[in-house]
Amino acid sequence: MSVIKRAAVVGLGGQAHKDHLPGLADSPLAELVAVCDVDTGRAAAGAEAWQVPGYTDLTALLNEVRPDFVIAAVPHHVGREVIKACAGARVHVMKEKPFATDPHEAAELAALCDKTGIELMVTVQRRFHPLYAVALQLLEQIGTPYLVEGRYTFHCPDPSTGWRGRAKLAGGGCLADMGYHLIDLLIWYLGLPDRILADTSAAAAPGADYDAEDTALVHLAYDSGLYGSLLISRSAGPKSERLAVTGSYGSVVIERGVVRRLDSSGQAVESLVREPAWPGNAAAARIDHFCRVLDGTLPNPSGPAEHLPHAAFLAAAYSSRASARPADPKEFLA
Ligand SMILES: NC(=O)c1ccc[n+]([C@@H]2O[C@H](COP(=O)([O-])OP(=O)(O)OC[C@H]3O[C@@H](n4cnc5c(N)ncnc54)[C@H](O)[C@@H]3O)[C@@H](O)[C@H]2O)c1
Repeated sequence: MSVIKRAAVVGLGGQAHKDHLPGLADSPLAELVAVCDVDTGRAAAGAEAWQVPGYTDLTALLNEVRPDFVIAAVPHHVGREVIKACAGARVHVMKEKPFATDPHEAAELAALCDKTGIELMVTVQRRFHPLYAVALQLLEQIGTPYLVEGRYTFHCPDPSTGWRGRAKLAGGGCLADMGYHLIDLLIWYLGLPDRILADTSAAAAPGADYDAEDTALVHLAYDSGLYGSLLISRSAGPKSERLAVTGSYGSVVIERGVVRRLDSSGQAVESLVREPAWPGNAAAARIDHFCRVLDGTLPNPSGPAEHLPHAAFLAAAYSSRASARPADPKEFLA
């Protein structure tokens, strides 16, 4: 029988309220013991709402509360300092994506986790969703993949708001933020591409002051002959999410809550549906998974080493955009 793990949530914004705080409340394996936000009002409101101590300083929280792990849901540029503080205190981390903002930071943090022996799991939730694991099995039935098409869009009314509007703070724009999920699937299913040609724009809201791209189009190619593209936009509605991989015998198409295998003419051969697409306890299930990683009873599917290619993919995409030439992501594996 495992002991209940004591968890603190750092960064009390949208994602903490949507997923992590309710997830901890539902988790049989973990309990919330403290919250932290640099915003005094948010720290106080979180402490009041969840009846736990609230902090504005993570180091004080780590010293006084000594949690088993921290869930970090902070702006991207703050991730590094949070992981460093936790590693210094030998406290494990469940880190909201992305793992890091560039390949150097990714390599530095991976080495730090290694050296201090802390476990870090990046919360890319599709890795914990059964349909995405099923898609991996279905891919074995379509022959050699030669085409991949990904699309992930939604409409955010003001792309200039907060840290997400600044490329320096967010480590990029929609590609580094929501695009991280599609990049994760691409790398999981097909590996790191050999060439990436990317272009982006921050022109959806004329007059608004932001430099983090609202839309990105990424062409990718593998030496095997497989090629395709990803379109990511946080300005172009409607909300859509789709990844299709086509091979010599057919396709696998995964959309929100459904995965289908098609024959070469596009006729459906089989499909699997998950209803609801994201059940209410999905966040708790991810937290429980991490508790089992800490107990040593489950492997960590999303540790630092698994995320070095993601940072390399993003660096190659942004380098390609700057040079208007294809870039090889492997050259960015630090
Ligand atoms: N997995 C997903 O689907 C998903 C969805 C949304 C957001 N996210 C991720 O979650 C993270 C947070 O995003 P969000 O939308 O909640 O952002 P947000 O801006 O709503 O919240 C971030 C919070 O962090 C706080 N903060 C800033 N610096 C801090 C520091 N040094 N110490 C403690 N708190 C600090 C801010 O005051 C704010 O309350 C990001 O990494 C984002 O990519 C993931």
